[in-house]
Amino acid sequence: VVETALIIPAAGSGTRLGADRPKAFVELAGRTLLAWSLRSGLRAGCGLTVIAAPADLLEEARAIADAECDSLNVSRSLVAVVEGGAERTDSVSAALARLETANPSFVLVHDAARALTPNEVFIRVIDALRAGERNVVPTLPVADTIRTVAGSTSSVEDLATSVDRSQLRRVQTPQGFRTEDLRAAHRHARQTGLSATDDAGLLEAIGIPARGVPGAEAAHKITYPEDLRTARARLQGE
Ligand code: CTP
Ligand code: MG
Repeated sequence: VVETALIIPAAGSGTRLGADRPKAFVELAGRTLLAWSLRSGLRAGCGLTVIAAPADLLEEARAIADAECDSLNVSRSLVAVVEGGAERTDSVSAALARLETANPSFVLVHDAARALTPNEVFIRVIDALRAGERNVVPTLPVADTIRTVAGSTSSVEDLATSVDRSQLRRVQTPQGFRTEDLRAAHRHARQTGLSATDDAGLLEAIGIPARGVPGAEAAHKITYPEDLRTARARLQGE
């Protein structure tokens, strides 16, 4: 019986990174971002993983999965690869459908792009689920002063008053849920056409509020070329 499964949305195109291949398949210190993320999940003890990959990279994703399973000495059958969808939510839905038969108690959803997420973050999320939390989100405080835009008449924007920073959190992954709740949230989103930028937002829409646990700077999402450079430097500094 699998207690905690893992879904890795890795089907995005990585437009903002601007590499010659989809982001999850870009290398960082000898491993693809997908391989790094899968490795963290396997090490945290996730018993079954489903990767959502772009249609033309299913075989490559399979090869990456096999290599990580072999290197960590776990069965290759613990990782499945499915074709992702047009939006991140569609990719998560496709992966979730694949979990139907295994029926794990909990499921974590973790962006392939958060390649260097420390093991402690996975453990904190799993511990919170075991303690009864139902919509678990790793977060970090915001260091910058944040303002909203009131309007823009020229290339210079009108800035409204600043937002109270102490009330703000940056949201990361892995986010953790009960599998039945994540299914219900995705069903509801499909039926209502609701979209949210993450799964916690979809659960919130069915009345299950999000709860924060500490995230980590290293779990930063690799979005722009600058993020890849920072990640590389982080690994060299270790
Ligand atoms: N993702 C996915 N399916 C999509 C879109 C995104 O599985 N249709 C995944 C990405 O592969 C990534 C995670 O969701 O691991 C977070 O998305 P993001 O950082 O936006 O990645 P991309 O969509 O690939 O990047 P961009 O928005 O710059 O194109
Ligand atoms: Mg995207």
